[in-house]
Amino acid sequence: MSIFTFVNPLPTLPPIKNVILAITGGIAAYKSAFFARSLVKAGFDVRVIMTEGAQAFITPLTLQALTGNEVHTQLLDERAEAGMGHIELAKWADLIVIAPASANTLARLAMGMADDLLATVCLATTAPVMVAPAMNQQMWAHPAVQLNVQTLADMDYLMIAPASGEQACGDVGEGRLPEPEVLLDHVLTLQAERTVPQSLAGKKVTITAGPTVEAIDPVRYLSNHSTGKMGFALARACRDAGAEVTIIAGGKITLPTPLGATRVDVLSANDMLQAAIASAEAGCEVFIATAAVADYRTKDAAPQKIKKTQEAMTLELVKNPDILATISHDYPDIFMVGFAAETQDVEKYARGKLASKNLDMIACNDVSRSDIGFASDDNAMEVFFAEHYQQAPVPLDKASKDKIAEQLVALVGKQLA
Ligand code: C5P
Repeated sequence: MSIFTFVNPLPTLPPIKNVILAITGGIAAYKSAFFARSLVKAGFDVRVIMTEGAQAFITPLTLQALTGNEVHTQLLDERAEAGMGHIELAKWADLIVIAPASANTLARLAMGMADDLLATVCLATTAPVMVAPAMNQQMWAHPAVQLNVQTLADMDYLMIAPASGEQACGDVGEGRLPEPEVLLDHVLTLQAERTVPQSLAGKKVTITAGPTVEAIDPVRYLSNHSTGKMGFALARACRDAGAEVTIIAGGKITLPTPLGATRVDVLSANDMLQAAIASAEAGCEVFIATAAVADYRTKDAAPQKIKKTQEAMTLELVKNPDILATISHDYPDIFMVGFAAETQDVEKYARGKLASKNLDMIACNDVSRSDIGFASDDNAMEVFFAEHYQQAPVPLDKASKDKIAEQLVALVGKQLA
């Protein structure tokens, strides 16, 4: 198993409330400010430890303002020890996240040093410690650094793999600090293992998300405003409930892939159908279709850019395959979940689709409301079930797409139980 794939060793621990964010000296420290903010927004009580190196890049005052807590910088500071000293801090934490972790800090932790606040707290805590190394790609590749990373993994530190790409120093390679939302996803995944009922444990779930893109010519296309947010929220919720998730992302979605999910990027409805068939063939057990699939595509996309020589032009469109209906028909054992966006008679159309597409469950939203749906972070839905489940419709009140996704996953889990 890769040292970057971590499994919570103690799944019965209580929920994480108190998080120590430890920042060490590296240019990526500026990202830690955003990460601190997102941890606070996610509801954690956050205390920050900064090494001396970190303070050369970002000030304690910034982190104090963002977290509402005094920042801890000294091991042997009379004032700090009289308040929350290193042992109290170590006991207070339910989780420690070191981001960015410099090569120096990795070495010091691997050696079990105890000559600064961070290293000492790490020795004195029973909380899990997540480590997100970030440094120049050449430094990251050095055998000494790799040896220290392995040593830390062997000691059950939860190692987060660095990202690849352009670095602040101008180099290109592995060693970037993952974006704050990716770091948060690591924390939330650990939290989910402690708090979310594993109602989809081991189930293979495929989710279609986002718009499709139908080429008109090499530079133009037909598409829609779907952002994929609902599908990605569902992917996270299914993963949190223990599922093995494949997300088929249409269009040009730039949302980060939920940790642990397999992502297949596609453009057109036909491509999305092929990817859906491949996942059905690979043993998919639950298929959730959130994608806003274009109903029509151009009959023949022009091989060259169309010139504006005519005063008017006509595009001939042909119907796209219905991905959900096709999978439902060809793979009748898969639990099928559809979505419907309607502007009127929501229940009538929902029940019609439940029957015509042979679905187990359909989640409907009223897109005539401007405060929910498409590009919004919120949604509100009513969920209908195939008759044989004898389950009354379930209204899901307006909430974040993440909260709606959790409730939908619980409903899927209930029908599968
Ligand atoms: O028929 P309608 O487009 O309203 O159906 C919506 C549901 O069907 C959604 O779950 C959507 O993802 C799915 N769908 C599909 N392929 C299509 C059209 C819709 O999978 N071509």
